[in-house]
Amino acid sequence: MKKCEQLYEGKAKKVFATDDPNLVIVSYKDDATAFDGMKKGEIAGKGVVNNRMSNYLMSLLEKAGVPTHFVKELSDRETLVKKVSIVPLEVIIRNVSAGSFAKRYGVEEGIVFDSPTIEFSYKNDDLHDPLLNSYHALALKLATKEEIEKIKAMAFKINEVLKEYFAGLKVKLIDFKLEFGRTPEGEIVLADEISPDTCRFWDAETNEKLDKDRFRRDLGGVEDAYCEMMKRVFGN
Ligand code: TMP
Ligand code: ASP
Repeated sequence: MKKCEQLYEGKAKKVFATDDPNLVIVSYKDDATAFDGMKKGEIAGKGVVNNRMSNYLMSLLEKAGVPTHFVKELSDRETLVKKVSIVPLEVIIRNVSAGSFAKRYGVEEGIVFDSPTIEFSYKNDDLHDPLLNSYHALALKLATKEEIEKIKAMAFKINEVLKEYFAGLKVKLIDFKLEFGRTPEGEIVLADEISPDTCRFWDAETNEKLDKDRFRRDLGGVEDAYCEMMKRVFGN
C-alpha cells in the first residue's frame, strides 16, 4: 500500500491518500488540545497508545458485529482505514455523570445512571460543536432518519461491548464520544478513534482518572495514565 499526499490534518491525526481510492492512512500525533483547541500541548507517546488501542477496540467491535472503518494496523502510529465521509455528529454515550453533563445539570461527577444516555453535538469548530437533538440533525440534513436510528443503535451496542470489556480490566467506562462515517456504498460504520482522548476511564477501585481529563484539568501524570491504559489493554 503506497502512502500518497496528505488529505487532511486534524488536531490529533493526519490523513493520507493511498493508491487505492477507497482506503486512506491515518497517522496519530502526540499533539493534544482541549476546550476547542484553546489549550494546546503534547502527550509523549499518546499517538502510539491511541492508534494501538483504537485498532484493538475496533477489532473487538467487529467481532461483536459492529462494522467499523478499521482495515489494518501498519505501524505503531499508522493505520489503514476505509475512506468514509464523516457524519458531522459527535455521538456521546454516558454511563456515569461527569464533564459537561455534570456542569450543565449542576450535579456531581460519579452518579451511576440506571441506563445509559446519548447526546449529539454538531461537529462544527466555528460553532464550537453545539449540542443538538435528532430533530435538529434531521432539519440540518446532517443525516437521514434511518441513519440516525442506525447510529443510535450502534452507539448503545458499542457501549455494551466496551463497558463489559473494560470492566474485565478493572476500568469503569464513564462516557465516550464516537464518530460515524458513510462508505461509498452508503453503509454506516464506526470511524475516528476510541482512546483515552475520547473516553473517560476511571480505575474501578480508586476512581483514579486514566484519560485525557488529566491533561484537560492539569492533574499531572498524563503520560502515566495513557501508559497505564496501554498496560491494562495489552499487558505491556
Ligand atoms: P464532555 O463531558 O466534555 O461533554 O465529554 C464527553 C466525552 O466525550 C468524554 O469522554 C470526552 C469526549 N470528548 C471528545 O472526545 N471530544 C471532545 O471534543 C469533547 C468535548 C469530549
Ligand atoms: N480535543 C477537543 C478540542 O480541542 C476537546 C477535548 O477533547 O476536550 O476541541
